[in-house]
Amino acid sequence: MDWDPITHYRETAVAERYDRERFNSVPGRVFNALEKAFIRKAFRGMSRNAIVMDLPCGTGRFAEVLLDEGFRVVGIDISAAMLEVARRRLQRFGDLFETRVADVRELAKHEKRRYDIALCARVLMHFPLEEQIGFLHSVAELTKGRIVLTQSLSTPYQRFRRGIKRLLGHQPPARYPITETELKTLLAGARLREVDRLRPMALLSEAIYVIAEPAT
Ligand SMILES: C[S@@+](CC[C@H](N)C(=O)[O-])C[C@H]1O[C@@H](n2cnc3c(N)ncnc32)[C@H](O)[C@@H]1O
Repeated sequence: MDWDPITHYRETAVAERYDRERFNSVPGRVFNALEKAFIRKAFRGMSRNAIVMDLPCGTGRFAEVLLDEGFRVVGIDISAAMLEVARRRLQRFGDLFETRVADVRELAKHEKRRYDIALCARVLMHFPLEEQIGFLHSVAELTKGRIVLTQSLSTPYQRFRRGIKRLLGHQPPARYPITETELKTLLAGARLREVDRLRPMALLSEAIYVIAEPAT
């Protein structure tokens, strides 16, 4: 997999086919519906007066869930092309949904604790651990309260499962899944602490949804 997650999604063609390519098949639809249900669950109990920063927002599939739940959402992404798809999809929410094109690493240098709560979904696993820490630390700098983040958890069982899938010619779902120890390093590096986690379908999926808050 030789592509750069920072530049790849900036191409209009990539952005326009993103949802179709991933979520149009039957397994894709099931996966998309389940992920959305888990995001909804992770935000249950959080104040609807909060402004949620969805970073990276991509084509807005999770922003839509949060808007449906009654939050205001600011969708931030380095790709204007991905945000254009999100903007079209979420037009019906009017000014409850805003988009901003920005690199999280730059934005965090200038805007401290601007948003109430945040979602950081399906991006960390594209980077080696050191870069994950930098990315999440930037998200934390921009956020006052809780952050819901997604990652892929590497356990002995999941490594065995990956091995079998590789033998069968399947692509691994995440490039840089992390172990429990690395998850602790990631959160500590971003100055966050874990409050709760969802680990749905642990036998079938590597996905983990962590709810974290500022450590101090
Ligand atoms: C796989 S998409 C995930 C989008 C969305 N969270 C979802 O699950 O559908 C990853 C996104 O991360 C964005 N991205 C990568 N590096 C970024 C950065 N440094 N700052 C902001 N966005 C970034 C990409 O442009 C891309 O839209």
